[in-house]
Amino acid sequence: MPALKKSYPYYLAGAALRENADLVVLDKYSGKPATRVAMADADAVQAAIAAAHGSRGAMAAFPPDARRAVLEHCVRRFGERHEELAQTLCIEAGKPIRDARGEVSRLIDTFRIAADEATRIGGEVIELQISARTRGYRGMTRRVPVGVCSFITPFNFPLNLVAHKVAPAIAAGCPFVLKPAAKTPIGALIIAEVLAETDLPKGAFSVMPCSNEDAAPLVEDERIALLSFTGGLVGWDLKARAGRKKVVLELGGNAACIVDADPGADLDAVVGRLVSGAYYQSGQSCISVQRIHAHVDIYDRLRRKLKAAIGKLQVGDPRDEATFIGPMIDEDAARRVEDWIAAARKAGAKKLAGGPRTGNLLPAWLLEGVPRDADLYRREAFGPVALMEPFEHFDDALDAVNDSDFGLQAGVFTARLDHAMRAWDRLEVGGVIVGDIPSFRVDNMPYGGVKHSGLGREGVRYAIEDMTEPRLLVIRDPQ
Ligand code: SIN
Repeated sequence: MPALKKSYPYYLAGAALRENADLVVLDKYSGKPATRVAMADADAVQAAIAAAHGSRGAMAAFPPDARRAVLEHCVRRFGERHEELAQTLCIEAGKPIRDARGEVSRLIDTFRIAADEATRIGGEVIELQISARTRGYRGMTRRVPVGVCSFITPFNFPLNLVAHKVAPAIAAGCPFVLKPAAKTPIGALIIAEVLAETDLPKGAFSVMPCSNEDAAPLVEDERIALLSFTGGLVGWDLKARAGRKKVVLELGGNAACIVDADPGADLDAVVGRLVSGAYYQSGQSCISVQRIHAHVDIYDRLRRKLKAAIGKLQVGDPRDEATFIGPMIDEDAARRVEDWIAAARKAGAKKLAGGPRTGNLLPAWLLEGVPRDADLYRREAFGPVALMEPFEHFDDALDAVNDSDFGLQAGVFTARLDHAMRAWDRLEVGGVIVGDIPSFRVDNMPYGGVKHSGLGREGVRYAIEDMTEPRLLVIRDPQ
């Protein structure tokens, strides 16, 4: 049975609407139409915002245990639909089936974490009696939902990056309107289908593929209290248009990984992790390994082992269980990465591994001697390419990692505790991963970047903090 239906509705205020199934979603490997999706127009977006705004009270009053029950329902249903969801990702994103199954498991984790968090959103007791003037006063806070949230999600994790916005919103009691990526909308629409099975208050959620133009109110409308965007640097432009709303941005980077003279692990194991971090889902992750800084003592051995490991990666049909590198999201993306590689080589970089592109299929590339001002060094490649650079002193490696406009996560393989601590002190990133690659993520950890990489943190509890605000209660004891 094919994983995809012939067409998918969008969801306006919880209702499935099928008119205008005019968005064609391609199978990213074959390039052929896989299904059609109904697209919302400008009026529908306005109606969704109005419905969400109208449901603020009902969502805030929807009890925590009921929110947890909704999230638990999702956990159960995603479990039942695990393979269908994985096949869907494989088709709509071209994600190798093993990675696709991994993403479905993480989707379930994210909803499960949110289910747990839904009943422990607390507050604090504040000692107000700090002088004679304030004697007899007590203070306490509890967290209340901010109101309507708008979400815009990218193509690279069509389920789990949607989950990182939707699940905390439900836990926090916020209605929302979500625009999924036009190239991979099906994951979000299946999440909406499952939410429609629950008793969430009417109007609480809308999931609507739509044009960027029609989505403008999701950024600009003053009825929306929080905008959460995951994607490219355009996020900063959205923030400039967002008015008074809170804004959370997850915008990617050119993640680096340091391999110290004594990496603290067998070099083959380090190579396994680097290859995985650089090339899984064709490097289309905000924390894929793009820059490898290796100590001179191990540089040659690491390079030899990386080349050998890359040579074994299977490229091709993402449905094949053995495939490691499937197609990129489209040919333009693959061509852009290919152009950056060519420009770096023209400027003196040396190819260590790599090969020609076929359509949107680009094999794994590894280069050394990439000039620091090359796009391949400075910008987010978002493709199956990494570069190597040697260092002699650990502090130079830290400087090299920081020589970037971005700062999302960094990895450090080292046996030395002082180096690990110095990396944590000095690296300008949202997260330092010692003993592993920057691409490591568990869905309950704070995740987000500094510098151009973004603003705020996701990771369920941290998203819930953004989606709620403290409301103070002061009580005066008249005695
Ligand atoms: C991202 O690309 O920002 C998400 C990475 C992940 O969740 O593993």
